[in-house]
Amino acid sequence: MSDTLSARLQHYRQLLSPAELSRLEAALTRPQPPALRVNTLKISVEEARATWPLWYGWEIEPVPFCPAGWQVLRAGQPLSQTLEYEHGYYYVQDAASMLPAELFTAHDAPLILDLAAAPGGKSTHLASRYADRGVILANDSSVARLTALRSNLQTWGVFGALVTGFPGERFGRWFPETFDRVLLDAPCSGETFRPLSGGRGRVVSERERAALCLRQDALLLSAFLAARPGGEIVYATCTLAPEEDEAVLDGLLRRYPGAVEVEAVEGAPQAPGLMTDGVRTFDPTVQRAIRLWPHLFQTAGFFAARLRKLASVPVEPDERPVRPWAATGMTALSRAEVARLSADWRSFYGFDLGAALETLELTLWRRERLLFAVPQRLIALFGDLPHAAAGLLAGQELDGQIIPSHELITRFDRAFTGARVTLDEAQVALWRQGRDLRPAPATGYPAGTVILLQDECGRFLGRGRLLGDRLRNLLPRRVKGAP
Ligand SMILES: C[S@@+](CC[C@H](N)C(=O)[O-])C[C@H]1O[C@@H](n2cnc3c(N)ncnc32)[C@H](O)[C@@H]1O
Repeated sequence: MSDTLSARLQHYRQLLSPAELSRLEAALTRPQPPALRVNTLKISVEEARATWPLWYGWEIEPVPFCPAGWQVLRAGQPLSQTLEYEHGYYYVQDAASMLPAELFTAHDAPLILDLAAAPGGKSTHLASRYADRGVILANDSSVARLTALRSNLQTWGVFGALVTGFPGERFGRWFPETFDRVLLDAPCSGETFRPLSGGRGRVVSERERAALCLRQDALLLSAFLAARPGGEIVYATCTLAPEEDEAVLDGLLRRYPGAVEVEAVEGAPQAPGLMTDGVRTFDPTVQRAIRLWPHLFQTAGFFAARLRKLASVPVEPDERPVRPWAATGMTALSRAEVARLSADWRSFYGFDLGAALETLELTLWRRERLLFAVPQRLIALFGDLPHAAAGLLAGQELDGQIIPSHELITRFDRAFTGARVTLDEAQVALWRQGRDLRPAPATGYPAGTVILLQDECGRFLGRGRLLGDRLRNLLPRRVKGAP
């Protein structure tokens, strides 16, 4: 047992008997099976279950509280080395982290605020959970972490997200009573992370914890103010320290009696919250929260609760920053341009862009050589909020032609029926390393054409451009050479 782990767990002495404490220590040092969540925007869980375990020799066990989640008990190779991982067909994520997005109830097209979203595990989950019909404001105050957030949302194939980089504390007064769903996956001490899964293994000082608690209180207040009456707020942390969990909920309940409640969640793990941290006694309803002790649930330590805003509360709004959508450099494609592009892609790639735009109520925008598809509602509501990214990269201009993006193709994969060329096994291996193919496979297409490559099972491998005797590899840089 590492000294750091024992020292970290001293904090739990008042909450657990010595026997439980040693079971917790033992659980935290046991290797934990990796877990993944299927991207139901791209494939059904049933189809994924019928193929991937067979192809990759995985032994899987469903995550009980997440229909798209599996723990992988045995795997022939790391989960991050498959084609499906590279193309955003699944997200590698601790099973416990799959809980928060599942706590929200169903909704057709919710307005969602994810206050502390980077690197995007739960934003991608929310996008799939609501079939990308909602609008997600995915925010994180760490500018350095926005790159990963953007990249994960693109890889996942999400149209309906706007990425922003503000302190989450501001949203309650910028957007009072606006959102149907607010997720606060709060910055926390993370001290019951499993050491073997790369968690931060250090003791948290009392001073540091007090600062974290203040930030959590302020962020939860902001989440609550930003939720519309009747809306839901999920508060989650990856620590089991009650000061950062039940106490934060208790603070909000005391501040707004009758305007917010912690709800019991049907079907959630039977893992009640604590009534006390050993010093204070909490509102008894915080027991409706879910506290995943690693020694009881075989996951990382995790805490989550669903709150409902019951009534409107007075808020003094603050003026929010504004940057007109036009100032982002985006220009709308005209109707005629959209019609032409739809016709071109239909005849060459077999893809019905017009139908996709209509079904998902998307509009097409160009910035320099890039083409983005963005939900109209997202622009109408939040388009003038300064942001780092909006919508999905849908295409790019190449020598005067607009070709579909890798992200768009992986989102709709089999709907791109045309211009697909099958590579043999040796070519696939080179291709996935990011190499060009020389000589180019015989295709009959003229030079300059961008074709879609697939393997012998029909899985999309990326776009390639025919240039003389060479097939140029257009895999995005983040995918190239990944295996
Ligand atoms: C637990 S992580 C979020 C993980 C993320 N939800 C996911 O599922 O991938 C907490 C995040 O809070 C961010 N953060 C810290 N202070 C914040 C603040 N005041 N406002 C918004 N985000 C903050 C951190 O940068 C960090 O990315």
